[in-house]
Amino acid sequence: MSASFGVVGCPVEHSLSPQIHHNFAAQQGIDLVYHKLASTEEQFEADLQRWLEHGFLGFNVTVPFKSTATRFCDTLSAEATLAGAVNTLHVAGGLHGDNTDGPGLVRDLTRRHGIKLAGKRLLIIGAGGATRGILGPLLEQRPLTITIANRTLSRAQALVDSFPGTRACSLHDWPQRGPFDLLIHATSAGHSQSIDMPKLKLTDTDCYDLSYGAAAAPFLQWARDCGARSATDGLGMLVEQAALSFRIWHGRAPDTSAIYRQLRTQIDGDHSAHAD
Ligand code: ATR
Repeated sequence: MSASFGVVGCPVEHSLSPQIHHNFAAQQGIDLVYHKLASTEEQFEADLQRWLEHGFLGFNVTVPFKSTATRFCDTLSAEATLAGAVNTLHVAGGLHGDNTDGPGLVRDLTRRHGIKLAGKRLLIIGAGGATRGILGPLLEQRPLTITIANRTLSRAQALVDSFPGTRACSLHDWPQRGPFDLLIHATSAGHSQSIDMPKLKLTDTDCYDLSYGAAAAPFLQWARDCGARSATDGLGMLVEQAALSFRIWHGRAPDTSAIYRQLRTQIDGDHSAHAD
């Protein structure tokens, strides 16, 4: 029987994770089935228990369960502890929780897009779970500064308290705090709500959105309108975090270039996609 894995989320229908993991598995000659697993906050614990009893060996965890899922882990990696969230669960003796989102982002930025982080001035817009998940791995790259700009200033300040060395400002203040080498959009506003963004000249700034497809479109359009040096969505981060989860489960590092190219073509022709 094939080994079972899956991504737990709500909603989860749009997830590209099954396609990515089946690509990796075929490439590595591993027999597995990767499912989309829908749950609710009320049912999460019971659902997880049921899937574990059915013999699932690993899960990816996506919105809105990344923080909830930490409560059911027997052990947590350093990344998951720092993020206060897991995106990867591994059945190995007990249930081990890990977080590959931040490392996946760093790999995509530095390896695929050639964006250097060491000694650079970074701005992150948003102070929710997505930002908490990436701060530790970004700080490890030794940037010169990380500024967190948020609509609700107190949430940015709370992150600064947890991640010494970062600084906070309001959403309207950040242009005065620059210049920045890299601007990362990490709010959950998506394409349905618009964030008030200033008109700026950003010719020396790389811009990156953690989401992809339609959810990333307004920020990337704004970045292009500002003349940004580059405007990139988070599709590569999605593929890289999946590759790191795959390595946790199977002990092998898959090649990510073919599936990235395949999804790039797919996503560019389908603007209904969201972040995973
Ligand atoms: P999660 O933790 O799941 O990522 P969240 O806690 O709701 O989600 O955080 C979402 C982030 O997007 C927050 O930084 C939020 O700003 P606030 O802290 O002020 O709520 C930000 N966000 C969402 N919608 C936004 C909008 N329309 N304009 C500006 N920021 C927005």
